Amino acid sequence: MELKVLRKNLIVHKTECLIIGRFEGRGENPLIDEIDEVMDGLISSATKSGDFKGKLNQTVVFYSGGKLSAERILLIGLGNKREFNRDKLREASGTAASKAKKMGVKILSTTLTEMTAEILTPPDSAQTVVEGTMLSLYAFDDFKTDKKEKSKRIKLLNIVLPLKCKGPGKIEKGALKGLKLSESVYFARDLISNPGNVATPSYIAKKTRDMAKERGIKTRVLEKEDMKELGMGALLGVSRGSSEPPKLIILEYWGGKEKDQPYVLAGKAVTFDSGGISIKPSPGMEEMKTDMSGGAAAIGAVMAAASLKLPVNLIALVPATENLPGGRAYKPGDILTSMSGQTIEVLNTDAEGRLILADALTYAERFKPKAVIDIATLTGACIIALGNHASGLLGNNEGLKKELVKAGEESGEKLWELPLWEPYKKQISSDVADMKNVGGKAAGAITAAAFLDKFATKYHWAHIDIAGTAWEKKGKPFIPKGAAGVGIRLIIRYLENTLSS
Ligand code: BES
Ligand code: MN
Ligand code: ZN
Repeated sequence: MELKVLRKNLIVHKTECLIIGRFEGRGENPLIDEIDEVMDGLISSATKSGDFKGKLNQTVVFYSGGKLSAERILLIGLGNKREFNRDKLREASGTAASKAKKMGVKILSTTLTEMTAEILTPPDSAQTVVEGTMLSLYAFDDFKTDKKEKSKRIKLLNIVLPLKCKGPGKIEKGALKGLKLSESVYFARDLISNPGNVATPSYIAKKTRDMAKERGIKTRVLEKEDMKELGMGALLGVSRGSSEPPKLIILEYWGGKEKDQPYVLAGKAVTFDSGGISIKPSPGMEEMKTDMSGGAAAIGAVMAAASLKLPVNLIALVPATENLPGGRAYKPGDILTSMSGQTIEVLNTDAEGRLILADALTYAERFKPKAVIDIATLTGACIIALGNHASGLLGNNEGLKKELVKAGEESGEKLWELPLWEPYKKQISSDVADMKNVGGKAAGAITAAAFLDKFATKYHWAHIDIAGTAWEKKGKPFIPKGAAGVGIRLIIRYLENTLSS
């Protein structure tokens, strides 16, 4: 999708669909009044009749009949003005764009930036409008062979500002930021949406390498032999059941000063999680192609940081493997020796994510990181705890967690902290090894983090469990059914905040 920011009189602006917004209740609205007058009161008649109340995401479409240069006018409700915020603007922009897409519109113009600039700031508003629009329009239809079934594409989004608007440069910058972030989310969503037979560890490594090359990001991929040399017994243990070779993908973006310690992201990329010998039940197992959403988020975040030219140093470590049963697969009772030297008794081969992350967390030490954030679809227990509206947060540093919670609120990708108290850590002690890989039914999201905590001893660390937020079952205004691509906007917001503080 192409993006343009322009200053134009709305009456003569040529477009297939012009989006205008209205808050609930009365209140002044010069922009709508101007259009309403040209349309001989058609817009206000929808409000007067009581049909259109301005509730968030409510829509009405008008045809201009040539009275305006726009073919259609799409009126969208923005809800209560006092409760209005970034999240609601992202939703409204997404709802309007999906509606336009369904009508087959190719050229879309929005005034939502102008209409909400006094509540947010104009660049922030532009960024949010672009995010909502782009993220709602995502479709994964690579495997639809019938052209008619392919999703319709919007080609151009115009952000229309009034002629007298000051500082269009800054607004354009905000809009571009929204575009770059959304492109990174698209990249992650594509990786996640591709099925397990396509998106293997090798495929992810290749796609990532190609993406990185275009952006001057350094890529290294550790192969099985390298892992053996490094003693990554945990990652290798998980990969044994599969004939797809495991990969540890390393991305390095050095955008900051040379002496700045880097931030390290570790993202779980199990390209298909069958559970292994502790096999999962069949119904719903197909969803486990998304078990690489954490890896996709880490890769997407580096992509976004590079596209935005953020002055930070940022590394992504993405252990990628399948988790399958097989003749050589690891088994319950096996004891693995991790790269840290600590031994792990495997009691359930379905608790594989923490194993592959353990070795990535040890590998992270060599970067002398300022902080390490791991992100993973780690536990079903996290879905039970928080549902689908927040990701779980645990870690060993209060300041880091606080900053992440803040970034979650600001980006709309919310985090909720769970406690990592001592008694939970005892749940994973083993009779025969240094620890076991499961801590029983109770507090499963916490004991998984307690396991990771044993490997994140040398730096500030936070763990984000996205099991409940990575996959959208029903579809939300700016997250179509399927891969959410969660975590990228959150991480970038966090990095931006650390830069400005
Ligand atoms: N990938 C799953 C967690 C998951 C479940 C993510 C559902 C998204 C949706 C993870 O590898 C797993 O299987 N965890 C087990 C751990 C248990 C065996 C201790 C779980 O949560 O059941
Ligand atoms: Mn599993
Ligand atoms: Zn898993």
